[in-house]
Amino acid sequence: MKFFIDTANIEEIKELIPFGIIDGVTTNPSLIAASNRDIFEVLDEICGLVSGPISAEVTATDYNEMIKEAKKLVSISKNIVIKVPLTKDGLKACSELRNKDINVNVTLCFSPSQALIAAKCGASYISPFIGRLDDISHDGMQLIQDIRSIYDNYPEYDTQILAASLRHPNHLVEAALVGADVSTLPPNIIHKLFNHPLTDLGLKSFLDDWAKSKQIINPK
Ligand code: G3P
Repeated sequence: MKFFIDTANIEEIKELIPFGIIDGVTTNPSLIAASNRDIFEVLDEICGLVSGPISAEVTATDYNEMIKEAKKLVSISKNIVIKVPLTKDGLKACSELRNKDINVNVTLCFSPSQALIAAKCGASYISPFIGRLDDISHDGMQLIQDIRSIYDNYPEYDTQILAASLRHPNHLVEAALVGADVSTLPPNIIHKLFNHPLTDLGLKSFLDDWAKSKQIINPK
């Protein structure tokens, strides 16, 4: 499974790069606004840090304006992926951009039928929002499973399932179990993946026993 990091915060990205786990970055208008930076500057800096796909979302809702914005955003770097909302205008823009060999991430997907039409329009990625469905008492993970089944029935679709709006490590595990291609994770969830109290307890007990042995592996 590929891991994308869901942030426009440069420090948060830099902190996780040394682990070699960041395959790409997703941003959205809220995350760019939270960075308090100019969209072009911050995306340019992110593209310089991560060579994988970097999602940059259009803010226009009208097809013609979306295409104009997409042209400006792709000029930042060759690894920019244009993110469009799952609307009629967004999918028309998706189709047009894919004809020009520009990768497109279709966002705000909440149903299998939306995922199907996005694949028909050539989406490179479909972003189902798991947490936001769970928030309203729907089963977000069932959506990923349904999209996986549909896409597997039609191998001619090369749309990748990008599990988004993940709120805790179990969302990631479940998305992996049902076969999402990519998960985009807020940095705080990535940090939680490393932790287990039994690891801490086990390490403490090993080190306590070692101290009692009076041995040193690397004497000064
Ligand atoms: O980037 C889109 C998505 O991951 C947002 O998540 O937590 O705002 O629903 P959230």
